[in-house]
Amino acid sequence: MANPTTIRTGASGGTEVTQASLPNTTGTITVPRRHLLDLDDLTFDEINDLLDSASGMLEIIGRDIRKTPALRGKTIITMFFENSTRTRVSFEQAGKILGADVINVSASASSVSKGESLLNTVKTLQAMQIDALVVRHPHSGAPYFISNHTDAAVVNAGDGTHAHPTQSLLDLFTVRNHVGDPSGKKIAIVGDVLYSRVARSNIVAFQKMGAEVVVSCPNTLLPDGWELDTTLGDETGFGGLRLANSVDEAVDDADVVMALRIQQERQEAGHLPSLREYSERWGINSKRMALAKTDALLMHPGPMNEGVEISSEVAHGAQSVVEEQVRNGVAVRMAVLYTLCAPGKSTRIGSGEDG
Ligand code: CP
Repeated sequence: MANPTTIRTGASGGTEVTQASLPNTTGTITVPRRHLLDLDDLTFDEINDLLDSASGMLEIIGRDIRKTPALRGKTIITMFFENSTRTRVSFEQAGKILGADVINVSASASSVSKGESLLNTVKTLQAMQIDALVVRHPHSGAPYFISNHTDAAVVNAGDGTHAHPTQSLLDLFTVRNHVGDPSGKKIAIVGDVLYSRVARSNIVAFQKMGAEVVVSCPNTLLPDGWELDTTLGDETGFGGLRLANSVDEAVDDADVVMALRIQQERQEAGHLPSLREYSERWGINSKRMALAKTDALLMHPGPMNEGVEISSEVAHGAQSVVEEQVRNGVAVRMAVLYTLCAPGKSTRIGSGEDG
């Protein structure tokens, strides 16, 4: 494995991490990227390469026999210290379709519950010659820490309120499949911006792809120093991000409306008036969707609190791509695992090149 370079992450990270660049679209290796910890250190081209690779993976998923030997002999461990349905299952499915051995470790069923430290858990797994470690952790930065103590590729499957890079990749992939290049498109993100790692990663991801991102939320769910009815400057790391004065302003003429889950497990008392009032003032419903473009996409990372941040009517309506997001999650995670675990091979499998 090539020596990684050491850089600092961008606005949302601030932690020193080791990384290098992904294979390019022609499959030529520059320096292999070892980990996927956040999107803010990926370039525009790297993101597009991953999305292109995911298109090939989607073709594999659509086959009668969904199996390729691309990662045969590789061992992937998913280690989730927080609950998950979509992310954990889709990483497992992604690894298995690619022919890898996938082992799932949940914190409650591991020696973590007996007091073993995160460091010793990682060292123990490292001793078993694993190739990739997919980690979800309630503490922001945990995957960065892990990446400094293992030779395996580390994939951040969501860390605290910090980042959820594969969710953003699948969201970009879904938008790209519907509206093409996201550049110049208006993306409205509505909800719990303060606690949402999806919000943070998606702001970075869509801005990086040239989209106009507008967020709307109650004052109490804005990060420190952010004010409604302003546009953030470059010094914040989110330059150009519009903090709308109202939901109606945010969704007006939007190409994509993304509702965020209210992260009740992370919130303290006093952040919301009541769920009913939140739903009335910030919930995405058919009246608010009518303000967006006629063919606007309705997205939600899941799991949804129907009747709170999103009405059942729009969640399951014609504009909703929520289930498609889940399906695309498998393809995107296949692309990520393949890119990290099979460095040196073409990123283009799924077009008859995968045997
Ligand atoms: N979107 C998302 O991360 O969902 P899960 O918590 O079910 O993985």
